[in-house]
Amino acid sequence: MIRQKIVAGNWKMNGSEASISDLVSGLLEISESSAEVVVTPPFPYLSQVAELIAPRNELVLAAQNLSQYEKGAYTGEVSAAMLTDFKVTYVLIGHSERRSLYGETDEVVAEKVKVALSAGLKPILCIGETLEEREAEQTLLVCERQVAAVIDAVGIQAFENIVIAYEPVWAIGTGLSASAQQAQDVHQAIRANLASLSTPVSEKVQILYGGSVKASTSAELFTMPDVDGALVGGASLDAKEFLDIVKAAG
Ligand code: G3P
Repeated sequence: MIRQKIVAGNWKMNGSEASISDLVSGLLEISESSAEVVVTPPFPYLSQVAELIAPRNELVLAAQNLSQYEKGAYTGEVSAAMLTDFKVTYVLIGHSERRSLYGETDEVVAEKVKVALSAGLKPILCIGETLEEREAEQTLLVCERQVAAVIDAVGIQAFENIVIAYEPVWAIGTGLSASAQQAQDVHQAIRANLASLSTPVSEKVQILYGGSVKASTSAELFTMPDVDGALVGGASLDAKEFLDIVKAAG
C-alpha cells in the first residue's frame, strides 16, 4: 500500500515575527517533493504564516493544539473553529509535552480528536512511551492504550482522517533518536493493532516518527515500510536541515 509521506515541523514555543518570516522564506526555497510538507507555528503566528505560504502550495499549515470545547469561558484556549479561520489543515493533539506538562489525559486527547474531526481538521495524534515505560517493556501497551482511547471516542473508521505520530518521549529533544528499526517495530505493531479492527483503515493510516529526527538519520528511517514520515522538532527551526529531511522523504 503506497502512502504519501508527511514531513511536519513542530516549531513548539519558538520564534518571533522576524525569525518566522526568515524561516518561512527559507522553507519556500523547497524543491518539488512527493511528501506533504507541514509547518506548525505557535498560535500567534498562524495568520502571518498562512499569509506567507498562501501564494504557493508547497507548505501546509498545522496548529500545535486546540481546545476540546467549542467556544465560551475558557480563558487562554483556542477553538477548532478559530483554527479553520486561519486555513489550518492539521492539528497536533496529545503531544507528550501537553500530556506531561499540562495534564492532558487519554480521554481529553480523545475529546480533542473528536472536536477536530467535527471541524474538518486532520488530527495528528501523538503517542509514545516514556523511558521508564520502555525499560519496563510497556511500549506497545502504552501506544495501544493511547490509540484505543481515541478509537473508543470516534471509532476505527475515523482513522481514515487521522495521522498518528509515534514519538518516544525519551527521544524528544534529547538528540537520542530511536533507531530506524526501533521505529519500524513500533509502527508495525500500531498498524497491526488497527488492522485487528479494520485492515483497509490500517493500510491507509500514515504513521510518522518523531524524536530527534535529523537529516542524517532520516534517509534510513524513511526506508522502513511502516514509517510514513516524520514529526520534526528542533531540526524544523533550521530551513536547510528541515528541507534536507524533506528531500530524504522523496
Ligand atoms: O513534535 C516533534 C517533537 O516532539 C520532536 O522534537 O526536537 O526531538 O525533533 P525533536
